[in-house]
Amino acid sequence: MGHGAFEQTYAASEDRYEKMEYRRAGASGLDLSAFSFGLWQKFGTDYPYETQREIVLHAFDLGITHFDNADRYGPPHRAAQKCLGKVLAKDLAPHRDELLLSTKAGNPIGPGPYQKGGSRKSLLSSLDHSLRDLGTDYVDIFYSHSPDESTPLEETVGALVSAVQQGKALYVALSNYQPERAHQAAELLREAGVPLLVHQPRYSIFDRTPENSGLLELAQQDGFGLVVYSPLAQGLLTDKYLKGVPSGARAENSAFLSPDVIDDTYRQRASALNDLAAQRGQSLAQLALQWVLRRPEVTSALIGASSVWQLDHNVEALQFPPLTDDELAVIEQHGIHGTGLKK
Ligand SMILES: NC(=O)c1ccc[n+]([C@@H]2O[C@H](COP(=O)([O-])OP(=O)(O)OC[C@H]3O[C@@H](n4cnc5c(N)ncnc54)[C@H](OP(=O)(O)O)[C@@H]3O)[C@@H](O)[C@H]2O)c1
Repeated sequence: MGHGAFEQTYAASEDRYEKMEYRRAGASGLDLSAFSFGLWQKFGTDYPYETQREIVLHAFDLGITHFDNADRYGPPHRAAQKCLGKVLAKDLAPHRDELLLSTKAGNPIGPGPYQKGGSRKSLLSSLDHSLRDLGTDYVDIFYSHSPDESTPLEETVGALVSAVQQGKALYVALSNYQPERAHQAAELLREAGVPLLVHQPRYSIFDRTPENSGLLELAQQDGFGLVVYSPLAQGLLTDKYLKGVPSGARAENSAFLSPDVIDDTYRQRASALNDLAAQRGQSLAQLALQWVLRRPEVTSALIGASSVWQLDHNVEALQFPPLTDDELAVIEQHGIHGTGLKK
């Protein structure tokens, strides 16, 4: 799709559902697109709306149904939701029933006592505000963004249950919870008749926490799906940083990806993985995405993109044959946990 192709009116691609794979979220009845699209970075007011709109609409055209957001995403906070709300109102309104919209609450969005944490007040007032940002009556998935040890888990879970009972969310979810607390929350949710749909952890070739912590096994046992974020390690599992930091890349201007992590050790490991990808006739990004999706517990790989090209390229990962045991063994040699992560 050429630049500016959506400038006038938008007509969704008719074959969008043929291009994508859909995967069941845990023991629920809901299928998610194998790729979900996240608006964490580059969907604030610091980037051009027309580019943002083009990327969102292109994601939908590729069969991506799940759009991940949070009250915090911007800058400033809430800007990414307002951006998506504008695209919804202008272009995607006829397709609301085909979309899964997620939002999260609980991470700090301001200095006030109810602008952070897992209290009932904080979660439900944030959700109301997010519905206004998005211009929709309900979100499909409402997340507790992070665990809050200072709030009783019963209160946080109770707020999630209320969101569903009030018709403001269809499903509930957790993010960044350790397995033990996730299990306790899943039990409480089950008792309340509002089962945990998904958990959202970080997972990539360079971040093995969900394997090491037992979260993958817990997902199977408790019947929830996993929507894994930063599967490309924010771009480190692509070829873009092999020869430095290109202009405009996230590592150039983000508080969350420091150029310091792009050192010789990183380059050596990423280059070896890049060579393996080349032998398979694909890119490192495509290999890294196939790698997270190889696990049946992973319902969806949650990606970001700063261009339509990146989206097209990444979704093409679905076209390649599965990784063989020999290839997985090579990935184990170079995919060392902690590579590229902030110390
Ligand atoms: N629950 C949480 O606490 C939490 C935390 C973080 C993220 N998330 C969610 O997960 C989503 C995805 O996270 P993420 O953006 O870190 O995921 P990611 O897929 O690991 O990184 C995406 C970034 O990598 C670069 N990129 C993507 N494809 C590329 C390609 N083919 N070649 C070169 N560069 C490429 C782009 O950055 P540039 O082009 O800008 O360099 C893009 O924005 C977020 O939007 C958010 O919804 C959730």
